Amino acid sequence: MNMYSRITGTGSCLPSRRLTNADLVAELAAQGIDSSDEWIVERTGIRARHFADVNTQSSDLALVAARQALQAAGLQASEIDLIIVGTSTPDMVFPSTACILQGKLGIRGGAAFDVQAVCSGFIYALTVADAMIKAGSARKALVIGAEVFSRILDFKDRTTCVLFGDGAGAVVLEASTEPGILATDLHADGKYTDILCVPGHVSGGQVSGVPLLRMDGQAVFKLAVGVLDEAARAVLAKAGKTEADIDWLVPHQANIRIMQSTARKLKLPMDKVVITVDQHGNTSAASIPLALDTAVRNGQIKPGQTLLLEGVGGGFTWGAVLLKI
Ligand code: UT7
Repeated sequence: MNMYSRITGTGSCLPSRRLTNADLVAELAAQGIDSSDEWIVERTGIRARHFADVNTQSSDLALVAARQALQAAGLQASEIDLIIVGTSTPDMVFPSTACILQGKLGIRGGAAFDVQAVCSGFIYALTVADAMIKAGSARKALVIGAEVFSRILDFKDRTTCVLFGDGAGAVVLEASTEPGILATDLHADGKYTDILCVPGHVSGGQVSGVPLLRMDGQAVFKLAVGVLDEAARAVLAKAGKTEADIDWLVPHQANIRIMQSTARKLKLPMDKVVITVDQHGNTSAASIPLALDTAVRNGQIKPGQTLLLEGVGGGFTWGAVLLKI
């Protein structure tokens, strides 16, 4: 009998401090940086984002999202034997945010680790968890994307600081004889390191380099549009499905124009695309599970439907997951 992995619960968390474009534009203006609600909405579709306070770490947001997902799945934390957290803003250099979260959930035993694939982090984490469940290495996993990207934003750089937000999204992924995850497709190309990076590291107790986000927006935009289409087609082909089988596209929430382009290429109407970028901004690894949980809880996504999840980000990394929920 085929063994699948299946999402049995979702959860999410947004920090309570919500900034509309007007709020952020006013804060930037006080620092002499010029921006506007019109520019941000027209170029990105973003209207608001949430920022965590200084005492809130990625593991704190992940904890709330994980507890919601466990509750939705009807599981106790003690039943979890694998935790994978996608994050580029970990609590510490080490241990991993997944281990810190494991401690906060009071779980002992099983495996816990982070994956670092920036905005593709959740797609990478879900793919690894699926493979481990299919291989029999785990049976009940928490797969999470959690970020406090506000910590690595350069608020003097208007081309990037208006784009990102903080948050977490989680799913419980369980071994099942019913499908489940139908196909996965991951890629990376390290040639593009420089177009999206945080070029700093810790050395001798000091931060070396610039630990703030740097992005060539147009280069990222162009690459993203091409690779997302390729990944979508690859994952459909692997599962023996076509665009017509997709009930919902749940894309990485970076820019509404990238999502529109992907939908157009797949001949999907926009009412089959889950959109949360307007309210969350780009929450990197958290964006897909946050969008997924939002659409599950508001009744857009229904059990039995086929979802195409896809992400792209620094590395350059990209990938897609096709699943039945
Ligand atoms: O999650 C990882 C993936 N990341 C992405 O997907 C991001 C991909 N890139 C993008 O989404 C877009 O490239 C941006 C939204 C970042 C930028 O949009 P764009 O249409 O490529 O704008 P641009 O960079 O060409 O800038 C156009 C103008 C420039 O002014 P000039 O040189 O034409 O006078 C910018 O200085 O807009 C100006 N500008 C702004 N104006 C007001 C840039 N940022 C702002 C701002 N407010 N915040």
